[in-house]
Amino acid sequence: MSTKHMTEPLVIAIDGPAGAGKSTVAQMLARLLGLAYVDSGATYRAAALKVLESGVSPEDEEEVIRVVVSAEIGFVPRQPQPQVFLDGKDVTTKIRALEVTRAASRVSRLPVVRQKLIALQRSLVKHPGVVMEGRDIGTVVFPGAPLKIFLKADPKERARRRVRQNEEQGRPSTLNDTLSEIARRDQRDAERQASPLVAAEDATIIDTTDLTAKEVVERILELARKKGLPVPR
Ligand code: DC
Repeated sequence: MSTKHMTEPLVIAIDGPAGAGKSTVAQMLARLLGLAYVDSGATYRAAALKVLESGVSPEDEEEVIRVVVSAEIGFVPRQPQPQVFLDGKDVTTKIRALEVTRAASRVSRLPVVRQKLIALQRSLVKHPGVVMEGRDIGTVVFPGAPLKIFLKADPKERARRRVRQNEEQGRPSTLNDTLSEIARRDQRDAERQASPLVAAEDATIIDTTDLTAKEVVERILELARKKGLPVPR
């Protein structure tokens, strides 16, 4: 038997609020380490899109559960951008719309929805491993992950980054609107009963306000080396 697959795949968990730098950092790290990149938020976005396309109100719990349970959600961790499928259709771009962002924050409060998507997220771990980013990766999805990072940043800086990102994606937004949107989402994500946004006890917290993505990645690599994980020098 080959010894290649005798060890567990490596899981690096990166959690934190919107705009803290999770996706940029997780993508860079995955590329550097030759691991898959999984954006767990995209699975909640696909569920939210299903709810909106079904004409169901994100507040109608019973109906949300009914349509999400029957949704076929697929995630293909491809570089440079993962592909997301809903009922066989590629929805990679569609799930980035503002109304989907809003609905995702509501839909993700429901434990039944979380259960389904957590099972999907766990199924995406393949050799040699993944860098998975989200809100509850280190606390709930992979509590045993050997490296857990919690990124945070000043809300104003997070809003600035989001405005820049929206602009790059052809969706102009104002700083004030984005700041209040971020504050509303933070509150909902932190206050929900099911998997609220908190750092795992054994996570390393990095404040990215004054750091470049490259600097954050360097810190994470340093931590990985200290833990004896297989990362290049
Ligand atoms: O990271 P994002 O903006 O794509 O996430 C969209 C929503 O999904 C966000 O409001 C919270 C939810 N989410 C979650 O509850 N748990 C995760 N692991 C990832 C995202």
